[in-house]
Amino acid sequence: MLSMIIPLFMLSTLTNANPLFTYCFNDAINYTANSQFEDNLQQILQWLPSNTSVTGFYTNSFGDGADRVYGEALCRGDVTPTICQNCIKIASQEILNGCRSEEKIIWYELCQIHYSFQNFSSLMVYTGKYPDSNNLEKNVSNPSHFNEVLMYLMDNLSSEASFTPSKRKFAVGEIKFSKSNIYGLVQCTPDIKESDCRSCITFALGDLKACCQGRQGGIVVSRNCNVRFELYRFYNATSMSLTYPSPAGGKWKTGMVVAVTCISALCNSCTHSVLCCLYPVEERRTRR
Ligand SMILES: *[C@@H]1O[C@H](CO)[C@@H](O)[C@H](O)[C@H]1NC(C)=O
Ligand SMILES: *[C@@H]1O[C@H](CO)[C@@H](O)[C@H](O)[C@H]1NC(C)=O
Ligand SMILES: *[C@@H]1O[C@H](CO)[C@@H](O)[C@H](O)[C@H]1NC(C)=O
Ligand SMILES: *[C@@H]1O[C@H](CO)[C@@H](O)[C@H](O)[C@H]1NC(C)=O
Ligand SMILES: *[C@@H]1O[C@H](CO)[C@@H](O)[C@H](O)[C@H]1NC(C)=O
Ligand SMILES: *[C@@H]1O[C@H](CO)[C@@H](O)[C@H](O)[C@H]1NC(C)=O
Repeated sequence: MLSMIIPLFMLSTLTNANPLFTYCFNDAINYTANSQFEDNLQQILQWLPSNTSVTGFYTNSFGDGADRVYGEALCRGDVTPTICQNCIKIASQEILNGCRSEEKIIWYELCQIHYSFQNFSSLMVYTGKYPDSNNLEKNVSNPSHFNEVLMYLMDNLSSEASFTPSKRKFAVGEIKFSKSNIYGLVQCTPDIKESDCRSCITFALGDLKACCQGRQGGIVVSRNCNVRFELYRFYNATSMSLTYPSPAGGKWKTGMVVAVTCISALCNSCTHSVLCCLYPVEERRTRR
C-alpha cells in the first residue's frame, strides 16, 4: 500500500496537483454511472496522456451517436513530453471527480482537458475563468504605468502567438519595468484559426485587466486560450525581450532622468536640501 502512495505523492508535487479551475457546463445533462457515455469518456481519457505528449495537443472522439464523447487536451507550450504526460494523467483522473456534466473543462498550470457530447473541434468559444490564485498576488506600486507596459507586452505576444506559424500558437516574452521584468505568456489551442486566436486572447486580456490590474501577477484561462503574467520567470522557454517605447522627446527625457538620478545621488550623499527640492519638480516635468 505504502509503495503505491509514495509515487503518487511524488508525481503530484512535481506537476502541481491542484487544478486552477474546473468548469461544469450547466446546460449539458449529467451522465449516469456505468452508462455508455461514461465508458466512452473513460476510453478517451485513457488515450490522452500519451497521445497529447507527442506534440502537446491532441483531439479525438470515441463512440457513436448520442453517446459519442469528444475529447481534447493541451499542454503548456514550454513543457517536456514527460511533464505533459504526467499533467494530463492527473487531469484525466481529476476530471471524473465532482460534477458529471456531459461537457466539462479542467485547467492546471501546465495542461488542460476538455470533453463534450458535441464536436467542438476548431470552434472558438470564449469561456474566460479566473483562478483563485490571482487573489494571492500582491499589488504593484505604480498600477497605471505597470498596466501600460504589461499590455504592450501582451499585445505583442498575442500577435506572435496568433500569426507566427512557427510559434504554434504559443508565445512568451519579458519586458523591463522599473527595476525588474514583467514576464508574459499567451497560448491558444492549435485547432483554431489565427484570427480566432487573436480575438480569444483579446477577450482574455480584457478579463486580465478586470481581475488583475495592479497586481503582481494574474492568469485567465479559457477553452481556446490562456494568458498569464508574473514578475518572475515562470516558464522554461527562450523568451523574447521587449522594450517599452519611450514617448516622443524620449532622448531629452532620458537626459532628465539621468540628471535627476545624479541629483538624487548627490542628495543621498550630502543631503543638500536645495538640490533635493529639484527632484520632484523635474520628475513631474518628465512625466508629462
Ligand atoms: C492514441 O492512443 C491510443 C491508445 O494508447 C492508441 O491506440 C492510438 O494509436 C493513439 N493515437 C494516436 C494518433 O497517437
Ligand atoms: C523547467 O526546467 C527545470 C530544469 O530543467 C525543470 O526542473 C522544471 O521541471 C521545468 N519546468 C517546467 C514547467 O517545464
Ligand atoms: C447535474 O448535477 C449537478 C450536481 O453535480 C446538479 O447541480 C445539476 O442540477 C444536474 N443537472 C441536471 C441537468 O440534472
Ligand atoms: C469535428 O469537427 C472538425 C472540425 O469541423 C472536423 O474536422 C471533424 O471531422 C469532426 N469530427 C467528427 C467526428 O465529426
Ligand atoms: C490591492 O488593491 C486592491 C484594489 O486596488 C485592494 O482592494 C486591496 O486591498 C489591495 N491589497 C493590498 C494587499 O494592498
Ligand atoms: C514583438 O517584439 C519583438 C521584440 O521586440 C519584435 O521582434 C517583434 O517584431 C514584435 N512582434 C510584433 C508582432 O509586434
